[in-house]
Amino acid sequence: MKKNLLILISIVLIFSSFKKSNVDEQPDQRVDSVLRLMTIDEKIGQLVLYSSSWDITGSTIKEDYIDDIRKGKCGNIFNAHTVAFVSKLQKIAVEESRMKIPLLFGYDVIHGHKTIFPISLGESASWDMEAIEKGARVAAIESAASGLNWTFAPMCDISVEPRWGRVSEGAGEDPFLGSKIAEARVRGFQGTNNNLSDSLTILACVKHFAAYGAPQAGRDYNTVDMSKRVFLETYLPPYKAAIHAGAMSIMTSFNELDGVPSTGNKYLLTDLLRNELGFTGFVVTDYTSINEMVNHGVVANEDEAGLLAIKAGVDMDMQGEVYSKYLKKQVENGLVDVKLIDDAVRRVLRVKFMLGLFDDPYKYCNPTREKRLIYAPEHLNAALDVAKKSIVLLKNENQVLPLRKGEKIAVIGELADSKRDLLGSWKAAGDWKFMKSILDELKEYNGAQNVIYAEGCKKMGEDRSGFSKAMATARKASKIVLVIGEDAEWSGEAASRTNINIPGVQTELLKQLKTLNKPIILVLMNGRPLVLSKENELADAMLESWFPGTMGGKAITEVLFGEYNPSGKLTMTFPLNLGQVPIYYYAKNTGRPIYIENPKYKSRYIDSPNDPLFPFGYGLSYTTFKYSEIKLSSNELTDKGELKASVTVKNTGTYDGEEVVQCYVRDLVGSVTRPVKELKGFEKIALKAGESKTVTFTITPEMLAFHRLDMSYGTEPGDYKLFIGGNSRDVQEANFKLK
Ligand code: NOJ
Repeated sequence: MKKNLLILISIVLIFSSFKKSNVDEQPDQRVDSVLRLMTIDEKIGQLVLYSSSWDITGSTIKEDYIDDIRKGKCGNIFNAHTVAFVSKLQKIAVEESRMKIPLLFGYDVIHGHKTIFPISLGESASWDMEAIEKGARVAAIESAASGLNWTFAPMCDISVEPRWGRVSEGAGEDPFLGSKIAEARVRGFQGTNNNLSDSLTILACVKHFAAYGAPQAGRDYNTVDMSKRVFLETYLPPYKAAIHAGAMSIMTSFNELDGVPSTGNKYLLTDLLRNELGFTGFVVTDYTSINEMVNHGVVANEDEAGLLAIKAGVDMDMQGEVYSKYLKKQVENGLVDVKLIDDAVRRVLRVKFMLGLFDDPYKYCNPTREKRLIYAPEHLNAALDVAKKSIVLLKNENQVLPLRKGEKIAVIGELADSKRDLLGSWKAAGDWKFMKSILDELKEYNGAQNVIYAEGCKKMGEDRSGFSKAMATARKASKIVLVIGEDAEWSGEAASRTNINIPGVQTELLKQLKTLNKPIILVLMNGRPLVLSKENELADAMLESWFPGTMGGKAITEVLFGEYNPSGKLTMTFPLNLGQVPIYYYAKNTGRPIYIENPKYKSRYIDSPNDPLFPFGYGLSYTTFKYSEIKLSSNELTDKGELKASVTVKNTGTYDGEEVVQCYVRDLVGSVTRPVKELKGFEKIALKAGESKTVTFTITPEMLAFHRLDMSYGTEPGDYKLFIGGNSRDVQEANFKLK
């Protein structure tokens, strides 16, 4: 009795000190002062993450989970949002549970919360770090305004696998660009100065650790097997960049790596993540991935799976109910050292302190603020800006684009009139009902009388009955805008495909329309690189718009009519055919490269060229750019020196435009084979018609480091090639030597 009273007094004292505390001051002592008072059940509760659900009447949650919050047996919730719902649950935690520890509220805010931005792969095609950071900033502001304090983003998985639906959530195939984007997104979510205590920033979660983007045959959740060198060189950099940018949580991945599921992988979660990379945040599993280690076949039951996870370094169990069921018994039986649990709880509590939740658990729960910030005009403008910048012009024969205002256009395709699809997968709380479709926007811009519409066919299925109406409609117009692609849910999680063509009979409709001999402009909506060889032959112009988000209809309209000159560049290679997959620009030369056409016994196909349809970094503009030869400050780069490589880019066309100038290198001889090109820098510049600008890249020895034969990280002296151009294929070349 006396002991209980003492504990109670200490709790009251400690919590009154939380209130006054400055979170930056000695957080570890304050964490320890809380930890000391917690029972084993309450400690394990901080390592538990449960999902609420969403139905038409709003958020709901299982009664059992509410009870667990009350008992201190659940310290974190995901999928709950809106101030009303979040504050209801927070109140239970801080007013009804003994330790009064505030809950974390997580959600998949991947490319916007209410105002939806283009899917991440689309955004990456903008190569505009400010715009990408702004996208994450707006997502943070809107989700924080809705009561959330944690997002399960950024996804930092490099992928060269267009069959894998989740490429839509990433930043493409390149580790250098992927790292820059990962940093920009962390800055956007957590604030430029990593100010987690600001009530309009949220905690970022790096995912999916590790190498989730390389499932065999592109099938989601499938086995990943790669050399350690490839892992360290290509797949690790974006996770590492996000961690170094300050992300304080990280999610394990569903896959195995070298025979060990990530969620039980001590090398990944402790040796590499904490000891080598210095990560100080907490590790959360992906959804039930502790339990899934039974299916992986590395443990016999969930009990053992929990042991493997906690020993590997997993702090928080997402939805698996393994820690809540087994950890206490394992501690009591001496199978788990309570120190492991204490360390995990410390990491979670520390983040809660950093967020300022102990100072004010309701800091994200202000209904007036929620109303004011959701869909704020500034947010919609930011979404429009990046949506335009994400669009990639793949083809523009005879300058068929831009369209002239007032010309009669036939708009065809189910996707032209779909609002839902504009948002793509992981649309968070995005609401499509109030949005405008591409068709709505085209009519508004060009006058309803100049825009005639027929569906033609659905995005999926074999129904051709709408073809004749589409043909009749197209006959009445001077140009045809055909909007085709994938359903929004055909990319994202669990959306792998074995064929990456345009689905259904959409391409057949294109073929029929072609017989009318009128210019055809294809607007593509899709979440992955597709095989577009047929479409490329048939269409006069092709615009890749991805799933462009809430303001997508307007963005596409402005690009079609030249109000914005497209500047997007692909961040994943678009193959010529499925057989080339996986195909990516940083391939190795091999012992038998092809330099001449149709040679025998070379590394080639007998039925297809090796080259993709559209290379990494590719994208056209309504204007044209000419690159000068490269000027090097020296032909030699010394150990601690630097080398400047400059080109002058001239806008040689008649429109003002933007160009992404890209710099690549090739190490010609190494102790291990080196890629034929590696991106080392880029700059997006704006050039008025006729204007020239000089762009200079600085190359330092550190940029040329790699894992050498003995796996040590560093450089090797020798000859290098340097390339600068507007994509990874069409480049100027120069040579230098690393001394
Ligand atoms: C599974 C997904 O793999 C992950 O990315 C997501 O954050 C969780 N589910 C939570 O929704």
